[in-house]
Amino acid sequence: MSTSSPPSSRRLAGKTTLVTGAATGIGQAVAKRFAAEGARVVIADRDAAAAERATTQIGPSARAAVMDISDEPSVEAAFAELTEAGWSPDVVVANAGIQLFGQDAKAGDLDLEVWRRTIDVNLTGTFLTVKHAVRSMLAATPTGGSIILTGSPTGLNGEGADFTAYSASKAGIHGLTRTVAAAYAGSGIRVNTVVPAYTETSLVSTISDDPEARASIIGRIPLGRAGAPRDVEGVMVFLASDDAEFATGALFAVDGGMTTL
Ligand SMILES: NC(=O)c1ccc[n+]([C@@H]2O[C@H](COP(=O)([O-])OP(=O)(O)OC[C@H]3O[C@@H](n4cnc5c(N)ncnc54)[C@H](O)[C@@H]3O)[C@@H](O)[C@H]2O)c1
Repeated sequence: MSTSSPPSSRRLAGKTTLVTGAATGIGQAVAKRFAAEGARVVIADRDAAAAERATTQIGPSARAAVMDISDEPSVEAAFAELTEAGWSPDVVVANAGIQLFGQDAKAGDLDLEVWRRTIDVNLTGTFLTVKHAVRSMLAATPTGGSIILTGSPTGLNGEGADFTAYSASKAGIHGLTRTVAAAYAGSGIRVNTVVPAYTETSLVSTISDDPEARASIIGRIPLGRAGAPRDVEGVMVFLASDDAEFATGALFAVDGGMTTL
């Protein structure tokens, strides 16, 4: 298994991209890869200090945007500021999300407040990101762009039996993909979702730090290993690029075969 980043082909030269949840984890890896592929990258996150750090690591082709995706005025203001600065994105990756380990549960045991917090960020927040991305892309000349969402195997099957809110939020994202793709195809806006498997980031440290839980989840991945943030970069570069001009409304699993089971 190679651990080095694949060589850059500068497939995204000339594009401005925005990645939510880019201060850490999968989003940060994608943002760095987009920059290596020649794009300008907006590191959008609610954690201002971490977003600044990630931006500094990339250099002048990156800028930070502090936004809480679950708060519409915050999302709207961030997009307005980017337009003002000449950084309207051609590509938006709506990737930020939360998973409330120790709180999310089977339906009969799930507090409404935990359900609401999860749906607020993962589904409503993704919707708000998509809403303002679409508005920004419709205002561009010519109109168009690529929107990429981050789904999960838990939104497709019973993989997340103990995570009712998280799984429902991800199923909602999968549905949003198709509806928004169909609605805006005529304006040249493509919408697709990437479905990563269990990927070792701080989000899932509860599993990664527990050898038994880790072995159990890896046992459900046919390719026999955990995912890494770099695993999703390549497919996101493809979906962001003009090579994907005929791809819309689709789910792209990069999950080591997890959703085949
Ligand atoms: N790690 C996995 O196993 C896995 C598997 C499938 C899907 N995913 C999805 O991938 C995406 C990224 O997850 P990750 O593993 O990189 O997690 P992570 O916790 O490492 O990163 C998530 C980022 O989102 C930001 N964020 C959280 N809430 C926000 C909000 N309201 N507004 C703006 N930013 C916010 C956080 O500050 C953080 O930088 C999530 O949507 C997650 O559900 C992760």
